[in-house]
This record gives sequence, C-alpha cells and structure tokens, in this order.
Amino acid sequence: MKRFLFLVGARPQIIKFAALFSEIKRHRLKYILVHSGQHYDKTLSDIFFEELNLPEPHYNLKVGSGSHASQTAEIMLALQNVIDREKPDFGVLFGDTNTTLAGSLLFSQKNIPFAHIEAGLRSYNKNMPEEINRIITDRLALILFTPSRLASENLKKEGIIENVYEVGDLHFDLFKKVEHRINNNPAPKKPYVFLTVHREENTESPEFIQSLLNALDREKIRCIFPAHPRTHNLVKNLKLKHIEIIKPLPYLKTLNFIKHADMVITDSGGLQKEAYFLKKRVIILRKETEWGEIVKSGFAKLAGRDIETVIKLLKTPWEVGKYFNYYGTGNAAHKIAELLVSL
Ligand code: UD1
Repeated sequence: MKRFLFLVGARPQIIKFAALFSEIKRHRLKYILVHSGQHYDKTLSDIFFEELNLPEPHYNLKVGSGSHASQTAEIMLALQNVIDREKPDFGVLFGDTNTTLAGSLLFSQKNIPFAHIEAGLRSYNKNMPEEINRIITDRLALILFTPSRLASENLKKEGIIENVYEVGDLHFDLFKKVEHRINNNPAPKKPYVFLTVHREENTESPEFIQSLLNALDREKIRCIFPAHPRTHNLVKNLKLKHIEIIKPLPYLKTLNFIKHADMVITDSGGLQKEAYFLKKRVIILRKETEWGEIVKSGFAKLAGRDIETVIKLLKTPWEVGKYFNYYGTGNAAHKIAELLVSL
C-alpha cells in the first residue's frame, strides 16, 4: 500500500481531516500527518485536535503568520525537508489555504502525485487568495474529490474531467456524525444573531468591521461574535452594548450556537454551510460564494459589504426554499478512503 502525506494547517483543514480520520484508521492507511503551523493559536488549532480526538501531527512546521508569499514559501521549504526524509508516495491536500497551495506546488515539483479534497469550488473572484490557491491546486492534482455537483461542473468547464470523484462534503460527514451531540453544550440566551468575520477583504482595514458592529449595536441587534484573532485586534476597543465579542469557539459549540441563533452573518465558507445544514438563514458578507447552492436554495443572501442591506435582511427575514442534500449523504470520507486504498 502507498504511504500518504496529509497536509493540514488552518482551522477548516483540521476539521476536514477529522471527518476523514476514522476512515483512515478503518482502512489502515499508512500515513504521515503534517501540520504547517499556519494556524498556531490554541483556539484555531489545538482545540480541534483535542475536541475531535485527533493524533498529534508527526511534524509541525511551525511557519506561523506572514504575507501570502512568505507563508507559502516557508511551508514549501520546511515541507521539502519532511518529504526528503519520509519519501511519501502520495499527497493529500484539503481546501484552499496557503498551506494547500504550498503543498500542491511542492508535491508537483517533487513528482509526488496528490489528491485534492474539496476540489472544484469557484467564487470566480481572483482577488481572493483562496480562489488562486484552488485554481492552481486543481490544475496540479492527480485526483480531485469534489463536494457537490456544482463543483464537478466547474471543473468540467475548465476541461478537468479525468479522475474527478464527486464524493460529497467532509464537513457534512462530520456534521452528521456529531449532530446528536450538538445540544450537549449550553447555548447563549435567546434571541441572538451569530456573527463571524475573518476574510482578508473584510479585515484588511478596520473601517468595514467597525462600521458593521456599530450599526448592529445602534439597531440593538444582539450578536454573539466569536472573533478570529486578527479581527479581534480591530474591534477590541469599540464600546458596544449589544455585541458580545468572544474567543473563537470549538467545533461542537459553534454548531450549537448556530442552531439556537435567529440568523447567521458570516464571510466563512465552512460556517455558511454549517448554517445551511442546520436550516438557518445566513447573510453572507461577500459578493459571491463558492457554495452557490445555498444561495440558490434561498437560505443564504449575499450582502457584500453593504451594511444597510445586512440590517434590512435582519429586520425582515425572507422566505427560504426547500432544503436539499447538495453535499452528499455523509459518506464522503468512506469514498475517499476506499479510493486512496485502491491506488
Ligand atoms: C486562513 C485561510 C482562509 C480560511 C481561514 C480559516 C489563507 C489565504 N486563508 O485565513 O481561507 O478560511 O484560514 O480560519 O490561507 N493569526 C493569529 N493566530 C493564528 C493564525 C493567524 O493571530 O493562529 C492572525 C495573524 O495576524 C495572521 C492573520 O491572523 O496574519 C491571518 O492568518 P492567515 O493564516 O494568513 O489567514 P486566515 O485569515 O486565518
């Protein structure tokens, strides 16, 4: 059997790896787990290893924060040493972060074939670092695991048709697995809106996020806001009565807080889907989304950075459509592991 190198680095990748891990064990895959160290705060990394019972990574490259260029380059340099020492036969990459990009470039340079999990997503906005990372990774991957029909179709439009496997979404797998435990945590007192903001385009300057919080506060809309460390730095000095700024939450608590919220406001890809799984209305603080099915279904509205629209949507909840299982049946991990074993 081949020896696989799984590369994670940022919060959503740890969650996706967790969804896959029981199948990795069940299929007795030989693997090396490498953490790039892109996320290093306890609340963005360790917390998920503990909560989701994951093994310690075999290597932590500890690259930390930096510009996109320096982060990508540092991951590549450090990963090169690991690859030279471990000589894996096959790589596995998740999602669209700088860690993903670094892995795809290095695996390609080293002639190591690799699979891309969550392939085919497109926002068609190349100002997002994530869009660049996805396009390049999908071009270079040998095997592409897509989470939805739309993602497979996006690949087809780009002429990528070989070795594309529409397996479903690992986030949905994990959600199905833990759904019965969501209520084990106490939720905040109702009513409240659950808010998260971390994307570069929404946090590179303080104006947008500060105006948004001030507007929500003026309107007396109670919000629970787990803030990513970089967002936290922009808002910690605001005087707000109705917005509760808290630390980033573990996985199950996040689901619990979404479940009991009146609505969700977010710019996160993972969270907009989790809101959808829980059949919540979600206002997306972006002009486009790579999870277009959720908007089509009527559960999500794209508000961009238009604060007036956000407030209007909060005050007049819209009719939602029918819920569809766009993201598989909860056995994506099983399908991925079966295929990897067969290589
Ligand atoms: C990264 C991904 C994004 C993903 C998100 C999940 C890229 C380009 N972006 O965004 O797609 O949705 O992870 O959370 O890879 N910081 C800390 N502690 C940490 C990590 C980061 O304080 O543990 C701060 C630093 O100031 C850093 C900034 O957050 O400069 C941004 O971190 P970075 O890893 O570059 O991107 P994220 O916004 O976390």
